[in-house]
Amino acid sequence: MSAPNKEYDPVEVSALDPAAIDAALSAAVAAIAAASDLDELKAVRIAHAGDRSALALANREIGALPPAAKAEAGQRVGKARGLLKKALEERQVQLEEDRDVRVLVAEAVDVTLPVDRAQVGARHPLSTISERLADVFVAMGYEVAEGPEIEAEWFNFDALNIAPDHPARTMQDTFFVESPDSGVVLRTHTSPVQIRALLERDLPVYVVCPGRVFRTDELDATHTPVFHQIEALVVDEGITMADLKGTLDHLAASVFGEGLVTRLRPSYFPFTEPSAELDLQCFACRGASVNNPDAPCRTCSSEGWIEWGGCGMVNPRVLEACGVDSERYSGFAFGMGLERTLMFRHDITDMRDMVEGDIRFSAAFGMEG
Ligand code: DAH
Repeated sequence: MSAPNKEYDPVEVSALDPAAIDAALSAAVAAIAAASDLDELKAVRIAHAGDRSALALANREIGALPPAAKAEAGQRVGKARGLLKKALEERQVQLEEDRDVRVLVAEAVDVTLPVDRAQVGARHPLSTISERLADVFVAMGYEVAEGPEIEAEWFNFDALNIAPDHPARTMQDTFFVESPDSGVVLRTHTSPVQIRALLERDLPVYVVCPGRVFRTDELDATHTPVFHQIEALVVDEGITMADLKGTLDHLAASVFGEGLVTRLRPSYFPFTEPSAELDLQCFACRGASVNNPDAPCRTCSSEGWIEWGGCGMVNPRVLEACGVDSERYSGFAFGMGLERTLMFRHDITDMRDMVEGDIRFSAAFGMEG
C-alpha cells in the first residue's frame, strides 16, 4: 500500500485514476464476455477480481488516501467492483446453463440400444424344489430341522433300528469317514435327523428335514453318489396312519396339482412299522393312460402312479431309542429323493444334468422361488 499522499489527490495514486479504473472494468467485462466456458471464467475471475487484480489493488489503495479523498475513490472503486461482480455472476449462470445443455446432449443414453447383459446366475432347481416342499410343511406348522452330513453311525443306523448286519451298512453303500470302524459315516439318508429332532426337541415334534445325502454309487443317468432327500417326522399323541395319508395327499396336491392323491403299498423299512412305499398319482395323465394305448403317458409309463418315496408309522423301537414313551406317543415319517422328484416333475432324463452345474440347465428353470 502507498504512503499517504501529501496533496490528498486521489488521481496521484495511479491505480485510483478514474480512467484506469474504467479501463480495468471494461477489460474485465470484455474478458468475462469472452470466457467461453466455466474454466475460462474461473481464470478471468482470478485475473480481474482476484487479490492481485487491478481493481483489488485500487481498493486497497483507498485506505492510504486522506479522509477527504476516500469517499469519492471508494464510491468509484466500489461501483466498479460491484459491476464486475454482477458481470461475473451473470456469466457464471449463463455458462452453467450452457454446460448443462451440452452435458445432456453429450451424455445422452439411448436406452433403446441393445446391450450385452451381464449373465446373472440362476438358482439351482434342487434348491428351489427343496424350499417349495419345505414351505408346504412350514405352512402346516412344522419346523425345518437340520443335521450334520458327517454323521455318527449310531444316528444313521443303530437308533433307526438298522442292525449292524443290515446290508445298507456295508462298504458297498456307505461312505465311511476314516476307517470303517471309526463309527463315522457320510449320512446315507436324512432319517438320522429324525433321531436328532426327537432327542433335541420337546414333544410333540413336527419337523421337516431337507438335506444332502451320500451313497457309494457311480454317477450315471440314474445314480449320483451325492443326492438330496426331504424327510418329515411327526410324533404326537394319537397319531395314526390316517394322519400320514392326509399329510401326503396335501403335499401332493400342493406341489403337483389340486386333487392329486398318493397311494401306499406295503413295504419294509427298519425304522417304521408298518412301512409303505409311497406313490404319487401321475400329475400328467392322472391315470387316464392306464390301459389306454391311444394315450400313452411318458411321465408314469402309463402306470398311473409314480414311485416317490418311503413312509410308515415310526417304529416304537425308534421312539424308545430316543427316550420317547411309545405307549403314549406315536408318529409317522416319510422321506423322498429330491433329484427323483425334480426328474419326473420336469421331465429330466439324465441325473448328470443336475450335478454338472451348467448354468444353462439351471437358467431354464427361470428365477422362480
Ligand atoms: N430313509 C429312507 C431311504 O433313504 C427313506 C424313508 C423311508 C424315510 C421310510 C422315511 C420312511 O422317513 O418312513 O431310503
